[in-house]
Amino acid sequence: MYTSKLIQGCMTWGRWGKQLSTSQMASQIEDCLSLGVTTFDHADIYGDYTTEAEFGIAFTESKIKRESIQLISKCGLQLSNSARNNRVKHYQYDSEYIIAQVEQSISNLNCDYLDAFLLHRPSPLMDLQEIAKSIIYLKEQGKIKHFGVSNFTAQQIDLLSAHVEVEGHQLQCSLNYCKPFTNDILQHHLSKQILTMAWSPLGSLHRLHEDNLPLDKVLGEMATRYECEKAQLAIAFLNKHPVGIRSVVGTTQPKRLEALKEALAMELSLQDWFLILEASRGHEVD
Ligand SMILES: NC(=O)c1ccc[n+]([C@@H]2O[C@H](COP(=O)([O-])OP(=O)(O)OC[C@H]3O[C@@H](n4cnc5c(N)ncnc54)[C@H](OP(=O)(O)O)[C@@H]3O)[C@@H](O)[C@H]2O)c1
Repeated sequence: MYTSKLIQGCMTWGRWGKQLSTSQMASQIEDCLSLGVTTFDHADIYGDYTTEAEFGIAFTESKIKRESIQLISKCGLQLSNSARNNRVKHYQYDSEYIIAQVEQSISNLNCDYLDAFLLHRPSPLMDLQEIAKSIIYLKEQGKIKHFGVSNFTAQQIDLLSAHVEVEGHQLQCSLNYCKPFTNDILQHHLSKQILTMAWSPLGSLHRLHEDNLPLDKVLGEMATRYECEKAQLAIAFLNKHPVGIRSVVGTTQPKRLEALKEALAMELSLQDWFLILEASRGHEVD
């Protein structure tokens, strides 16, 4: 496996959230490593195309060895951004663009290669052969070690797999967004051995008392019974699936990260898992 069991998401490290300074980013990387969270999730667009480079500077200053961490990045989303001269938010997946963006991410992150590169979202205009051409080239050049996608359907993955191996998939999945548990995507990944990463694994946990009171109540009762936090239940819920979901977590608070790491060792009972599913969806299974 090419990621740690928990993955640190970097989407809100910079301009899109916490605006961490270089030294704060460097200590965040160190804190993650000390907890065994060695994989960092990026995308070219984070912070309006600025966060990767900020991370790269902090990583260089930290003096941590490249081999001690794994870096994931993505491309394909083009923001409606004046610096890029884009008039509309769109997707771009021609071979030249993919190669140039990966090279840009590697340069920004100051890292020689990406451990995994993902297509950020499927495009209605994507040409799978054209995409495969760029991925094969990037692998041959040693610029990416693994290739995957994000927010694809099982069918889209199968179609792309006819041209190039799809090794990983990052999708939205949480106790608050249960569709992947009830459509065929996780079973697909289990049978095809596709490494599965969940983004926003906590769902809207901190707003549940407004959004889904029944689920909040069930979690409150379970948190007392398991003597844990609701956020830990969110991770344990994902971890129960046999595919071995890797949560991409967004917190930058070491204590919270440590608690989420501890949740990987929790054993949620079968019926408690279904109690959460039922409360989340508002009805029992058929
Ligand atoms: N592939 C895609 O399309 C896609 C889309 C969205 C995101 N992502 C990736 O997924 C990563 C995580 O997304 P996310 O930030 O939505 O994930 P999340 O881990 O579900 O949510 C993190 C948020 O929950 C807050 N939080 C509140 N209570 C918490 C607790 N007890 N423990 C932990 N966190 C708590 C955190 O605040 P504090 O920081 O203050 O703790 C943080 O703002 C992103 O950084 C990005 O890398 C990918």
